[in-house]
Amino acid sequence: MRIAVVGASGRIGREVADVLTKQGHEVLGVSRATGVDVYTAEGLAEALAGADVVIDSVNATTTETAAVTDFFRSVARNVQHAAAAAGVRRIALVSIIGIDQFTAGHYAGKLAQEHAYREGPVPVRILRAAQFHEFTEMMLDWTTRGDTAYVPKYRAQLVAARAVAEKLAEVAIEDSGAAMIEIAGPHELELAAAVAKLAARQGKPAHVEEIVDVDDPNHELQARGALLPGPEAVLAGPTFEEWLDHKYPAQQ
Ligand SMILES: NC(=O)c1ccc[n+]([C@@H]2O[C@H](COP(=O)([O-])OP(=O)(O)OC[C@H]3O[C@@H](n4cnc5c(N)ncnc54)[C@H](OP(=O)(O)O)[C@@H]3O)[C@@H](O)[C@H]2O)c1
Repeated sequence: MRIAVVGASGRIGREVADVLTKQGHEVLGVSRATGVDVYTAEGLAEALAGADVVIDSVNATTTETAAVTDFFRSVARNVQHAAAAAGVRRIALVSIIGIDQFTAGHYAGKLAQEHAYREGPVPVRILRAAQFHEFTEMMLDWTTRGDTAYVPKYRAQLVAARAVAEKLAEVAIEDSGAAMIEIAGPHELELAAAVAKLAARQGKPAHVEEIVDVDDPNHELQARGALLPGPEAVLAGPTFEEWLDHKYPAQQ
């Protein structure tokens, strides 16, 4: 199959491109680095020419609600339009578990993207993923001030980006299946505890503190578990500890 991966250089995009290539599919990598901007649609029609399926794993560079909503909604409409013109048979989108109640930030933008994609005309299958194990690396980076990381209270069921990529490839290729699927890791955990394990393995920062960030309009939903998977979710390993051991082997 000829599969265009939008965001093919990203965390999930490069994994899904690798999975598909190893399965023998032809992958068309689409990103600004390859001269295509899916927000402005520059180069998009040419990039999707001849594609059977499109996978959207693009990400926004802002979390400001109006801007991120405009970004994801525009991307969905542009990809839908170009995919229809190219005769693409299906679009597979990676989204996020539990975002239905969110009205601010990245999660609100992803919800707008899902809605815009569902308006068609090309059929869309959505894989809603939990936060990736790799999300702890981003959290550690974003929240470290001096020798302390201030991690918001956040219940999560982290999953490996590779496991999400394998499922995303399946969702993109299969001709039948549910329009919406959830995938999460094997166990629920507190994000701060996972970040603390990562920090210990990396040797910095010295402290990880769990905080309640009342300035974040999403803090209550995150803290009470709105982003946890439902009972029908696919649960996929490795566990966070197995992922950590593989990526950051403990010093002997
Ligand atoms: N990280 C998580 O824990 C997680 C969990 C569940 C779902 N997700 C979802 O997965 C998606 C991908 O996340 P990620 O962490 O893999 O993203 P990422 O590493 O930031 O990669 C983003 C990709 O999008 C491309 N891109 C950005 N703006 C573009 C534009 N205007 N036109 C064309 N390409 C553009 C980037 O390439 P260029 O810079 O070259 O354009 C890059 O390939 C997001 O929608 C996110 O919501 C993430």
